[in-house]
Amino acid sequence: MMPRPVQMCLVLLLLALVPVSCAALPLVINTWPFKKATEQAWRVLQAGGSALDAVEQGCGQCEKDQCDGSVGYGGNPDETGETTLDAMIMNGDTMEVGAVGDLRRIKDAISVARAVMEHSKHTFLVGESASVFAENMGFTAEDLTTNTSLNIYKKWLNANCQPNYRQSVSPDPSNACGPYKPSARLQQTAGDQHINIHTHDTIGMIVINQKGHVTAGTSTNGARHKIPGRVGDSPVAGAGAYADSTAGGAAATGDGDVMMRFLPSYHAVELMRAGTDPTTACKKAITRIRKYFPQFFGAMICANITGGYGAACNKVPGFSQFNFMVYNAQLKSPLQAMVDCI
Ligand SMILES: *[C@@H]1O[C@H](CO)[C@@H](O)[C@H](O)[C@H]1NC(C)=O
Ligand SMILES: *[C@@H]1O[C@H](CO)[C@@H](O)[C@H](O)[C@H]1NC(C)=O
Repeated sequence: MMPRPVQMCLVLLLLALVPVSCAALPLVINTWPFKKATEQAWRVLQAGGSALDAVEQGCGQCEKDQCDGSVGYGGNPDETGETTLDAMIMNGDTMEVGAVGDLRRIKDAISVARAVMEHSKHTFLVGESASVFAENMGFTAEDLTTNTSLNIYKKWLNANCQPNYRQSVSPDPSNACGPYKPSARLQQTAGDQHINIHTHDTIGMIVINQKGHVTAGTSTNGARHKIPGRVGDSPVAGAGAYADSTAGGAAATGDGDVMMRFLPSYHAVELMRAGTDPTTACKKAITRIRKYFPQFFGAMICANITGGYGAACNKVPGFSQFNFMVYNAQLKSPLQAMVDCI
């Protein structure tokens, strides 16, 4: 069934110690070494599930596993100690999107996002109302707090609410807890980054099935100690992820507050549409952001419709390589791939 280029690709894979992009469908690719998520998505495809099922259950696996504490319940509490979730799913055949932001008390964020897509004409529901919608759709409401998230919160309180995301307020947010009032606006210095590899690593996943149906999904509990109500890039179509079966898919991870301003996933997909290879598309989307925010923490994965894939990241102190997962028709098991940041 598979023609000769596939064998050539296998030879390349054996010879090369660095990951080579070997086009093959179906393809599952996701941010970070979240291997169980990759395996789950692959299992769903092998069992005859759709690309949407695969991306939903793949990211859903990370929600259950609380991948790195950055996805799902019991991680990255906000300023009040509550864990809230952001998620999105996109169908690249129909260009339908479902998303939730600041979702409270419901563990299955990406499944709620899919319910928004399939059981409403809206695209994006947020906050308490999104939770009510989820309950109406049959999801179970439960406390997302765990001892782990409670301890993170207590430590933060004991450290005078450090670090936090307030600026130009009094009392001085760099050494005092709130409540805060606005004060004279200070000039922001680039490089003042709270979000780093330790506090934020969303799962973003692209699944392309045998027929070339491109889907993308994301799920995260957002930035640790975020201001309540904060929604990051992950649930925003074109920012956290994007899928278009006529061009490809992309997903982003990192400092969402900065990255969402550039729609990097949309940017990368449009570059691939114009013929740019996935690695270069990812690099160009990262480079655009870096022009304005040289110190931003972020990485991307990109895949085109023939199954070529690549990734890129912005090199900052403490982050020089980005690991991601790939599973495709040429691999017998999920491959943990790595790129050097640019
Ligand atoms: C959480 O902490 C409480 C009391 O500090 C303890 O009783 C409980 O067993 C802990 N739960 C877990 C899952 O560790
Ligand atoms: C997809 O990317 C691969 C490189 O990874 C490239 O060889 C292939 O031509 C690309 N396909 C399309 C449709 O652009």
